[in-house]
Amino acid sequence: MTEIIHTFQQFFQRRPAVIAQAPGRLEILGNHTDYNQGLVLSCAVEQHTSVAAAPAADRNTCRIKDYRDDSEASFALDQLDHPNPGEWVNYLKGVIWELNQRGISVDAVDVVLNSTVPLSAGMSSSAALEVGFGFALKELFDIDLDKTEWAKVGQGVENRYLGVSTGLLDQFSSIYGARDALIMSDFRINQVVKTVKLPPGYVFIVANSMEKHDLVDSEYNVRRRDCESAAAKLRAADGSIRALRDVSMARLEADKGLLTRREYLHARHIVGEGERVLKGVAYLEQGDIEAFGQLLFESHESSRVNFENSTRRLDYLVELAKSIPGCLGARLSGGGFGGITIHLVEAGQAELYGRRLAAAFKLQTGDEPQIIKCAIGGGATAKKIKSIMQKPDTRRK
Ligand code: GLA
Repeated sequence: MTEIIHTFQQFFQRRPAVIAQAPGRLEILGNHTDYNQGLVLSCAVEQHTSVAAAPAADRNTCRIKDYRDDSEASFALDQLDHPNPGEWVNYLKGVIWELNQRGISVDAVDVVLNSTVPLSAGMSSSAALEVGFGFALKELFDIDLDKTEWAKVGQGVENRYLGVSTGLLDQFSSIYGARDALIMSDFRINQVVKTVKLPPGYVFIVANSMEKHDLVDSEYNVRRRDCESAAAKLRAADGSIRALRDVSMARLEADKGLLTRREYLHARHIVGEGERVLKGVAYLEQGDIEAFGQLLFESHESSRVNFENSTRRLDYLVELAKSIPGCLGARLSGGGFGGITIHLVEAGQAELYGRRLAAAFKLQTGDEPQIIKCAIGGGATAKKIKSIMQKPDTRRK
């Protein structure tokens, strides 16, 4: 945190007024269940985005120095209406735009950003940026919104400002993450309903497939529409079904004739994931880490055959996980169609496991995967920075 104060000072020649920090997240179980009003097991990670900010000299122009890639940007508060295609600054513009939609206006700010969350990998670097910037504004302008509303501000940036129909998981996990624990969240009521610890001696390793899928956003939106149309058709038969969250596997099998094959398969993934979250939490509470690990493999298999959001590279990383000693389970994590896999590994074997996984993956694909050891971190924070004032010298001479 002190580093970001220092970099702000170097760049803007004065101290920041606030600093904020927001972590990336890992989705552990519960793939694409958030926008189906379902359950997700996730955690915040120690990798985070840091933001330092102060009111700008010019009341209309925000200036940003981004130490992630050493770039600079600026934008005017009266020109927020259109995101510029492909620019990261959209996430900041979008946060202010979302606040404006809620009737909250802010003055322009000078901002310095830094981050240890890998970009575009599936660890929610964009949510960390939205939440970190939002929290900095909250502290700077004393904005009174509750935590869940801040998560919705970030989600709104994705949904309304950028047009991707993502759920609330990423921003919610970044805000509500609990140090050293997995959180089980219920996205019907938008609450953390349980926290559960991993037994000691196990860690999550992330392997980045280094695959960016150009169609990720549109594929994601299509999946969401499929889930919603499946729920609507099942609702016609049983009015108590509000979302796929309310459908049991038995009900889905009984009523599958109402759905297209695609809707059925995609719904099968969502219903199965909801069940796996509950089973997973129960296994962890019983200390049965092997059974928990198996659920990760099952989740991936369901992504592969039912939800069709895996890729050959992701499948390959999970296949390797089954043959390298030390791994209890692995699956794709996040939206899918590229991005990352998570691997639950014995802590003592983690280094060697990561090296072996990387070597085997490179042999097959020619690409070096990014291997990241993830410790579970706490949720986002923000604080005001006191200006350095000379204390009166009260000592007796
Ligand atoms: C992305 C979205 C989340 C969630 C996951 C899949 O990360 O941003 O809202 O839907 O995919 O679980």
